[in-house]
Amino acid sequence: MDNFASRIDAIKAAHLYRVLRTLSTPQGRDVVIDGQRVLLFSSNSYLGLNTNDYICREGIRAIEEFGVGSGGSRLVTGNMTPHMRLEAAVARFKGSEAALAFTSGYTANVGVISALCHKDAVIFSDALNHASIIDGCRLARGLTAVYAHNDMDDLLKKVRHFRPRQGFIVTDSVFSMDGDIARLPDLAAIAREHGLTLMVDDAHATGVLGATGRGSLEHFGLSHEDVPVVTGTLSKAVPSEGGFVCGSATLCELIRNTARSFIFTTAPSPSTAATAAAGIAYIAAHPELVRQLQDNVAYFAQNLARRGLGTHGQSPIIPILVGDEARAGRAAEALLALGVFAPCIRYPTVPKGMARLRLTVMAAHTREDLDYAADCLERALAAARAD
Ligand SMILES: Cc1ncc(COP(=O)(O)O)c(C=O)c1O
Repeated sequence: MDNFASRIDAIKAAHLYRVLRTLSTPQGRDVVIDGQRVLLFSSNSYLGLNTNDYICREGIRAIEEFGVGSGGSRLVTGNMTPHMRLEAAVARFKGSEAALAFTSGYTANVGVISALCHKDAVIFSDALNHASIIDGCRLARGLTAVYAHNDMDDLLKKVRHFRPRQGFIVTDSVFSMDGDIARLPDLAAIAREHGLTLMVDDAHATGVLGATGRGSLEHFGLSHEDVPVVTGTLSKAVPSEGGFVCGSATLCELIRNTARSFIFTTAPSPSTAATAAAGIAYIAAHPELVRQLQDNVAYFAQNLARRGLGTHGQSPIIPILVGDEARAGRAAEALLALGVFAPCIRYPTVPKGMARLRLTVMAAHTREDLDYAADCLERALAAARAD
């Protein structure tokens, strides 16, 4: 019989043991976590909309109208008016012809990649892509060639080597653990020149990048012809759960008919779908909130740079590389003791020896919050080095 306890001991010895922390308040700029009130610097709720009145009321209204739970998969009995409204809202917001909603961003990536990439296809995947893309590639029948992170020369070398009859380039737009942005115009040009299909995961870009938060295509001035397959989540800047793919009506029709993670799972609850649609509508009507987030990111990045904690400041995800797993753990504990919550990220989320603190900026943070967090971060890193 497998010895579970000894495997746990090995995880602890490698400083890779993980614990669940519990919030007893809604997600805002500050929260109570395991009984301690702290500033929150690790939420993906970039626009801080989890307690927004309008969005919450739309969720409650959907429960009153449709009850809880959807009672079946989308293709059987689970498809309700809120799901159709959500897909229309996603397509409108992302500027695509159509959209298809999934239960999560994870299932969207896994389903879309495995459905599109048949056995003769080659998937060119960035080395730092999210686990859901990696798992989608594992499930796909085609071959996966991993190119060095954001390295167009390496990508081109691999494209020329494989010369696939059918090929896909797949990338996060904002990389989830590093916060930098994919070189989408270059990727689109390579895809065009070599007859490949570009697929972009806009999980951390939706509601975040572009003048009105429409995501990476708006940021770079690209169209859905440049990027025919866009996926994303409804659980970050959009304050709900669920995922989506958007693009042409034909793409969505194909995915609806072939993606196993769409077909073989219960539909999201109607209130979840209604909350997501309301979140999108709210963001579309409040571009000033997106600007506030972008201003906060620039302010925080400048503050850190003044302290010698260089960061690219391309997105709300601010990685502070520590390297050693044990030291990163100590830095996160010291930061928490000072009243700022930003956990350390370790293997297997990032490579071994690349442990880091991953801070995220929210639109709801005040300038005082950002100054305080920067100050505490400097002190926590110094304390972890001294230990
Ligand atoms: C880049 C990226 N893609 C997809 C996902 C999965 O989205 P979800 O949490 O909705 O499953 C995440 C994170 O959760 C992510 O960071």
